[in-house]
Amino acid sequence: MRIGVLTSGGDCPGLNAVIRSVVHRAVVDHGDEVIGFHDGWKGLLEADYRKLDLDAVAGILARGGTILGSSRVQPAHLVDGVERAKGHVAELGLDAIIPIGGEGTLKAATLLSNAGLPIVGVPKTIDNDIASTDVTFGFDTAVGVATEALDRLKTTAESHQRVLIVEVMGRHTGWIALHSGMAAGAHAIVVPERPFDMDELTARVGARFENGKRFAIVVVAEGAKPREGSMDFKTAGTDIYGHERFTGVANQLSVELEKRLGKEARPVILGHVQRGGTPTAYDRVLATRFGWHAVEAAHRGEFGMMTALRGTDITMVPLTEATQTLKTVPADRYEEAETVL
Ligand code: F6P
Repeated sequence: MRIGVLTSGGDCPGLNAVIRSVVHRAVVDHGDEVIGFHDGWKGLLEADYRKLDLDAVAGILARGGTILGSSRVQPAHLVDGVERAKGHVAELGLDAIIPIGGEGTLKAATLLSNAGLPIVGVPKTIDNDIASTDVTFGFDTAVGVATEALDRLKTTAESHQRVLIVEVMGRHTGWIALHSGMAAGAHAIVVPERPFDMDELTARVGARFENGKRFAIVVVAEGAKPREGSMDFKTAGTDIYGHERFTGVANQLSVELEKRLGKEARPVILGHVQRGGTPTAYDRVLATRFGWHAVEAAHRGEFGMMTALRGTDITMVPLTEATQTLKTVPADRYEEAETVL
């Protein structure tokens, strides 16, 4: 079999572990040939690739990023994108394509699969918002990075009797905010699923100081917004891909909290540090299992499917199902966290 693999969309710790696993399972156990496309779908659209053998993937298990590179280019953005992809798959004699990516990538994978290409998807995102899989690799690493940052920020917040508003990633969902906030014992967690009320948030943070505490940590997901009419809030339009730009919610919140509480407040934006560096053991194992199962699915001819973790098992789910809705933080999970803040 000849398999093409690519990594697309925002990078994520564990991508290299998937690539390595695909190559090991395919080359060693099945005698397949594997090629890796450069920079995501762009590589497939431009037939820009290299051969991946065991040497090419040696020593990459613990490396962050992706040895293949990534981009946000999608076949659907180009007039002849789907036709070009089909042409290159035929020219290269590919029997299977394994795209590793998040929501946008898996939507593109669905499009190409519907156009007849043999696709087996592998979900990834630090945001953990892909429906149909219990967890995505990268999430555990990102939560670890955010938790460590929160632990560190607590000591400086306390020294200066400040409110620190820590913005974590999570464009549509608040999984990283919820988990890191719980793990670090933050004093308020703000997620996109629950527009926040500025009066309530001020009261919660203010109550800490009234109770004699010297500092407060608020974790906010970058996509969080206030309840309609609850404060003046600036939105920031869209980026070149049509994605909503981030509002700088931590900046806006820190200005507002400082004004309302009369306490020094500072924003801290963790940003891409959450996506970089070495994956945790959990993420390496999950990524490796996804890669292994993707190759098996290709050999069974199970195309138009995506690997998924259900409980402790890896199963295959239809790509169409996986990209229909996002996995948001349910109300009861948020309530559990609120109790212990
Ligand atoms: O989807 C993963 C993610 O890390 C989001 O949490 C974040 O909003 C986005 O990517 C950032 O994307 P970019 O790297 O293009 O700025």
